[in-house]
Amino acid sequence: MQIGHIGLANRLFAAPMAGVTDRPFRQLCKRLGAGYAVSEMVTSRKDLWASLKTSRRADHDGEAAPIAVQIAGTDAQMMAEAAAYNIDRGAQIIDINMGCPAKKVCNKWAGSALMQDEPLALQIIEAVVAACAPRKVPVTLKMRTGWCDAQRNAVRIARAAESAGVAMVAVHGRTREQGYKGCAEYDTVAAVKAALRIPVVANGDIDTPEKARDVIEATGADAIMIGRAAQGRPWIFREIAHFLATGEHLPAPEVGQAKAWLLEHLHDHYGLYGWDDAGAGVRSARKHIGWAVRALPGGEAFRTRMNRLESCEAQFSAVTDWFDQLAQSHHRLPSAGAAANDACIED
Ligand SMILES: Cc1cc2nc3c(=O)[nH]c(=O)nc-3n(C[C@H](O)[C@H](O)[C@H](O)COP(=O)(O)O)c2cc1C
Repeated sequence: MQIGHIGLANRLFAAPMAGVTDRPFRQLCKRLGAGYAVSEMVTSRKDLWASLKTSRRADHDGEAAPIAVQIAGTDAQMMAEAAAYNIDRGAQIIDINMGCPAKKVCNKWAGSALMQDEPLALQIIEAVVAACAPRKVPVTLKMRTGWCDAQRNAVRIARAAESAGVAMVAVHGRTREQGYKGCAEYDTVAAVKAALRIPVVANGDIDTPEKARDVIEATGADAIMIGRAAQGRPWIFREIAHFLATGEHLPAPEVGQAKAWLLEHLHDHYGLYGWDDAGAGVRSARKHIGWAVRALPGGEAFRTRMNRLESCEAQFSAVTDWFDQLAQSHHRLPSAGAAANDACIED
């Protein structure tokens, strides 16, 4: 699997998720089998680059290559400048966000809203490619199947992107209108794959090794991208890798192993966000801990208790004690095989 001239370890990608796929989480996913992980989106607004939030998102200290940064915006020139800015800070691949449905992004006509304005989308793609090409940095595109059911224009946009020099396209099998509702469909992803020569990545609702295999078969995609199912379960990448290679399931992780991974993650997390009491470190770690314990016996009660702790030290030691207690009754994570993804919501 290649993105431009950059070779990847495998075809299992961690999806960009704002507020989740920060450097510590990306590193964890890569350590546990992801061949590739994209940063949370970084705004193209220069006035925000100095903010704490954006500078944390542009922090790649010690991150395993390749470093891929997603940029979001609505103005071609600003997006080109954002690409150059992030390349100067270590980005080796620039990803354009045309997949995020969040209002904050969409009201400004960024993210998946760009799929509604194809000329603007292409203008942005061309400007970003022009900024990246002289630096030998490949550009990728993350998109949805279209704006709405009546306007599934992913194939047209993907073809135009390929002609403009984009090196890879990832498609989430939902329209912008769907948000995260319903189930992802893979026919449009397959159509994009059939229409392009560059690699195509399938994304949406992949939460088990079997689903990974089925989506690869149904779409012919070169790689798959996993988002929500990796929350609290970052070892899903190696589970899938093992299953695709052997047809067999890895046993669930040992409780002690899962504890060690979570504690390493927390340590890195506090390092990025700060160890101060009631600060960003302790607060933003809560969701990762909550995801890690939600499917485990007594996990919900622990999460409620843990959410009241206001220092990193107290949080770290509560997690340690809780897993030690779980290890007394379980050698391996009891429900680690069950999908902890509430992605596919029928309504
Ligand atoms: C909390 C959250 C934040 C997300 N942030 C981004 C983002 O910054 N950029 C982007 O392209 N997609 C973003 N997404 C979409 C995911 O990359 C992915 O396309 C989507 O979750 C479907 O994949 P999944 O079913 O494996 O989760 C986000 C999704 C979630 C749940």
